[in-house]
Amino acid sequence: MRCLPLSLLITLLTSISPVLSLKYPHSYHTHNYYVLEHNPAGPASLAEVTNTLGVEVVDKVGELANHWLVRTENQLVSRTETPGDHVMEKYKTLRARASSTHLLIRSSEESLAKRFDSSVQYLSRQELRQRVKRAPPPITSDASGSVAERMGIQDPLFSEQWHLVNNEQPEHMMNVTAVWDSGITGKGVITSFVDDGLDYTNIDLKENFDAVNSHDFNDHTDLPTPKLFDDHHGTRCAGQVAAGKNTACGIGIAYESKVAGVRILSGPISDVDEAAALNFGFQNVSIYSCSWGPPDNGQAMEGPSQLIKKAVLNGINNGRGGKGSIFVFASGNGAARGDQCNFDGYTNSIYSVTISAVDYKGLHPYYSEACAANMVVAYSSGSGKHIVTSDRGENACARNHGGTSAAAPNAAGVIALAMEVRPDLTWRDIQHLCVRTARMINHNDPDWEKTAQGRLYSYKYGFGALDAGLFVPTAKEWKNVKPQVWLKTPTVVLGNGKMTEEQQYSGGVFITQLKNPQGEGERSDPNAGVKSTITITQEMLDAANFEKLEHIQVKVWISHARRGDVEVEIVSPAGVKSVLGGRRPDDADGSGYPGWTFMSVKHWDENPAGNWTIHVTDQNIPGRNGTFLGWNMMFWGSALDPAKSVLYELPEEDTIFPPHDDPPLVVGGASTTRFPTKPTAHLPGDHGQAEGENTKPAFPNDAAAPTSTPTADEGWFPDMNKLGNSQKWFFGGIAVVAVFGIGVGLFFWRRRTMNQKRKQQYESLAGEEIVGMSSMGNSGVTGRDHATGGRAGRGRGTTRELYDAFGEVSDDDDDADEATRLQPDRTTGVASSGLGFHSGFLDDEDEPSSRGGYRDEPGPELGIRQEH
Ligand SMILES: *[C@@H]1O[C@H](CO)[C@@H](O)[C@H](O)[C@H]1NC(C)=O
Ligand SMILES: *[C@@H]1O[C@H](CO)[C@@H](O)[C@H](O)[C@H]1NC(C)=O
Ligand SMILES: *[C@@H]1O[C@H](CO)[C@@H](O)[C@H](O)[C@H]1NC(C)=O
Ligand SMILES: *[C@@H]1O[C@H](CO)[C@@H](O)[C@H](O)[C@H]1NC(C)=O
Repeated sequence: MRCLPLSLLITLLTSISPVLSLKYPHSYHTHNYYVLEHNPAGPASLAEVTNTLGVEVVDKVGELANHWLVRTENQLVSRTETPGDHVMEKYKTLRARASSTHLLIRSSEESLAKRFDSSVQYLSRQELRQRVKRAPPPITSDASGSVAERMGIQDPLFSEQWHLVNNEQPEHMMNVTAVWDSGITGKGVITSFVDDGLDYTNIDLKENFDAVNSHDFNDHTDLPTPKLFDDHHGTRCAGQVAAGKNTACGIGIAYESKVAGVRILSGPISDVDEAAALNFGFQNVSIYSCSWGPPDNGQAMEGPSQLIKKAVLNGINNGRGGKGSIFVFASGNGAARGDQCNFDGYTNSIYSVTISAVDYKGLHPYYSEACAANMVVAYSSGSGKHIVTSDRGENACARNHGGTSAAAPNAAGVIALAMEVRPDLTWRDIQHLCVRTARMINHNDPDWEKTAQGRLYSYKYGFGALDAGLFVPTAKEWKNVKPQVWLKTPTVVLGNGKMTEEQQYSGGVFITQLKNPQGEGERSDPNAGVKSTITITQEMLDAANFEKLEHIQVKVWISHARRGDVEVEIVSPAGVKSVLGGRRPDDADGSGYPGWTFMSVKHWDENPAGNWTIHVTDQNIPGRNGTFLGWNMMFWGSALDPAKSVLYELPEEDTIFPPHDDPPLVVGGASTTRFPTKPTAHLPGDHGQAEGENTKPAFPNDAAAPTSTPTADEGWFPDMNKLGNSQKWFFGGIAVVAVFGIGVGLFFWRRRTMNQKRKQQYESLAGEEIVGMSSMGNSGVTGRDHATGGRAGRGRGTTRELYDAFGEVSDDDDDADEATRLQPDRTTGVASSGLGFHSGFLDDEDEPSSRGGYRDEPGPELGIRQEH
């Protein structure tokens, strides 16, 4: 046998048999990692491509075909110098050369570049970042002991699980008992909890735990064992779905279904691992329950990176043998800070079933985020009661679970029941069933609006409360929907608007503001701001093989000095309005909307033919202004002719405006309207009670009228604010803090001595993470750097800290001020949450050192996004 040259042998080896695997911890402090999409039909082999870039193949990327995790050693330079990224630079140079027509470039170089360029679809630098749990915001009043009837269930806390059987308010519960009576308990269905681990030793979960489809992407081991002191979130969520009958605590909604745990929230994670996590076991797992996301601080506007979008689409197109993974996402807990789920790219994805919360009285809890992407609500904490579920520890139970975090698993449980009887339902069938079977609550809530189809929709409740008693029987009889189709409109360019890769805006149409406000109570002119219309014709729909509408997406490019001032809404041909972006008092970001995609489910089943008019408005603040550069729309629905439908493929990311490969529809700046002098802001009289409300629209009736939007100073909960400002409460609070603080001090002193041993292990773990992160910081990553160019997508710019605005444990000091301003009981910090829940307190609070620092102090290294 002929000897192969050594170098060829090495490259063959690296490309055929990965040198490492995802199970092996990646060492971000010694190597730079990248994801490379190789085109096997291209002229250059994977080995040639990796050689050219000077990287080695580590592994394939989860379930994504032709995607490879590659790495190169860090070039260590002095601490003061920002190291260049030689791989990304090389990639950019080659791509530029390939598209260059410059005569001076030697042809051999050019052909090498061309060869390379047509063989590499995508290259993106991997960075670690932290996903954050949507942990329950604290509720002050104590849960009262409720009396629930027994159903042959001996689980000791079943009577406290009002979300299963609500004796006090029987119209408010997940309504599962009739489904159980018919023998449906989730058998054969697997739900994966993409979370902070899952305690499979808890006797509630032991039997139903699916180890094969579980994985730890934080520590790169097979089992999702909770390790950090506060890793109890995933276990609690899993208990809601699959806690077994007659074991500890309570019972799960689908108590004979299986749960898998995929651990990603217990430390920084790179896109490559998050992408693999969202497809982990995707042939056999039906539902991915995700109670986490970007910060719920009313400031962030973030979504999944291109690689994660690909993984999600891969799950949709190829998961469950092509029926599609069902991604259930918690809408977010930032409502009290003006946050909305349309500013979170996970919750406003058409591929997510987005779940908000209602409490045991059916009221809208102050934390639960509203937006036009909300599909349905599920029951969770508020008005003094929580979700009772399993907890970390062999027999441990949680009585203080809640937030939209706990609403999502309740929805996942109901979907799991349906999947037992109808495993053939596609991801879109599930969404249709949500739309059609949701139960109306709070009939008089002004947030309900009639859709063109005649249904009611609310930004707070979506189409209503998810009800197993209605959902599962309908699912049983459901006829599968026809395949998905879409119609993308050309991009409207207003006033010669342009945006560079570096997000420099020019042109566009000035968004007219109110001038010289005069007194309160006056309404503004509905024609303020900028309007623009896109016309959809029946011919366009026919050409797109389009039968019936489901989701709409609206992508906008807007420059503005203060993003939170901008409001965006769209009105359909039938006159139905979707508020896409409401005012966000805390969002002071100056980078505008560089091609942000909003989504609405409110137009479900509406005839899309006719004029769709977008309306972009601004607040009345001189010197804080902006321009509307352009927009486009995407309509998603079912196919006229199923035989002609094809699977959607993710296009390259648009990094400039007008987009690269999109024939722009140029519209003159004609639709701007100037308008006369008008009023200033005032608050609506009724804000409901702090414990929950059903009397308030999520957004003002007229987005152009700032009259019903509170100002930044007033916040969204003026009543609570007043409470917080009153001296009586203030000094009362101090007294409570003082008394309780002494108790806490004694408690911690004792606990510290007791737990010294246990913690050493956590501390060493934390230490490693910190090393990894500081080395990352050296690569000069900044949160808003999208300037990676072309297909590199968000390569180097992806590192952002995702943190928890309303964690049970206040983890973020930057946040504390904001939180206390809006929420008086937070002033007592540890004390008040401790007072609320005694059982949880012992487990929840620990000395900071064991948290590993990375969640408390993301600091400048992670390019944290919220400071402005
Ligand atoms: C999926 O389920 C099938 C049938 O139960 C089984 O044969 C297969 O091994 C499972 N695959 C995975 C990855 O769990
Ligand atoms: C609960 O389910 C039953 C059917 O099992 C249904 O008739 C009822 O409307 C549902 N909702 C409530 C609140 O009872
Ligand atoms: C739709 O908009 C176009 C121009 O934007 C206008 O000419 C037409 O009359 C509109 N149609 C309706 C039904 O309003
Ligand atoms: C917009 O704001 C800038 C300052 O941020 C100011 O200089 C400019 O005059 C404003 N433009 C208009 C038309 O108000």
